[in-house]
Amino acid sequence: MAGGQRAFCLRKQGTEDVETMFNYVYMKLLESQPDRYDRGIKWLSLGQSETVKRRIVAEYVIPGSRMLDIGCGTGTLAVLAAQKGAQVTAFDISPGMLAVARRKVVAGGLAERIELHERGVAGMGTFPEASFDLITATLVFSELSYDEQTYVLSQAYRILTPAGRVVIADEAKPESVCKRAFHAAVRVPLLLITFALTQTKTKAVVDLERLVSQAGFKIQNAERSRLGSFLYLLAVKENA
Ligand SMILES: C[S@@+](CC[C@H](N)C(=O)[O-])C[C@H]1O[C@@H](n2cnc3c(N)ncnc32)[C@H](O)[C@@H]1O
Repeated sequence: MAGGQRAFCLRKQGTEDVETMFNYVYMKLLESQPDRYDRGIKWLSLGQSETVKRRIVAEYVIPGSRMLDIGCGTGTLAVLAAQKGAQVTAFDISPGMLAVARRKVVAGGLAERIELHERGVAGMGTFPEASFDLITATLVFSELSYDEQTYVLSQAYRILTPAGRVVIADEAKPESVCKRAFHAAVRVPLLLITFALTQTKTKAVVDLERLVSQAGFKIQNAERSRLGSFLYLLAVKENA
């Protein structure tokens, strides 16, 4: 594989596909045009954004279970989970992304299985205690501040059932110094372009495992891509 392509390469780890996604720096550009988000994210991730969502559904969605998708965007994960039989609540702060999600819900005849809310993570306090079996957040933590991340995790702990699970998949800062240096070298120019066009930026998550543990969760799986820049994390409530 040519050097430039390595940044988005896939690797097989056992039966699991793990990916590196420097291209996710461009997420904010895509979000500024919700109607093009699905096509754009598919292209930028070489299809792997959907692969991760399908993996979550295949591994953790049980028909009849109650799922919350944080920062659901255009609703791809919510739709896949509902098609498998989950009762999904999904929320996002962006009306434009939600408008696309609503169209997909209606087109899929899933209105009775998916509840969409326009709200930010700050509104998670309104969900009742122990009301979800599974909470997901894909490509969202990298758009949240540190305080928001800790708040989301504390709320996730509160609103999950005792055996509940949380799955977070996102761009992450690599752990090793060398990989961090490489990550920064590739990422910074992309970030500058995105910022110039949207005045917004994403931030690869740092220390997520620690934050998740501090919130009371027990980490069951934390997979990183070869270059360490993509994290797929599964955690359960400590008392599960
Ligand atoms: C890159 S998109 C990911 C969307 C979807 N989860 C996916 O994997 O395709 C990030 C989403 O997080 C949403 N978001 C960002 N900050 C948020 C916040 N504070 N509260 C709720 N949603 C937020 C954005 O509006 C956007 O739809």
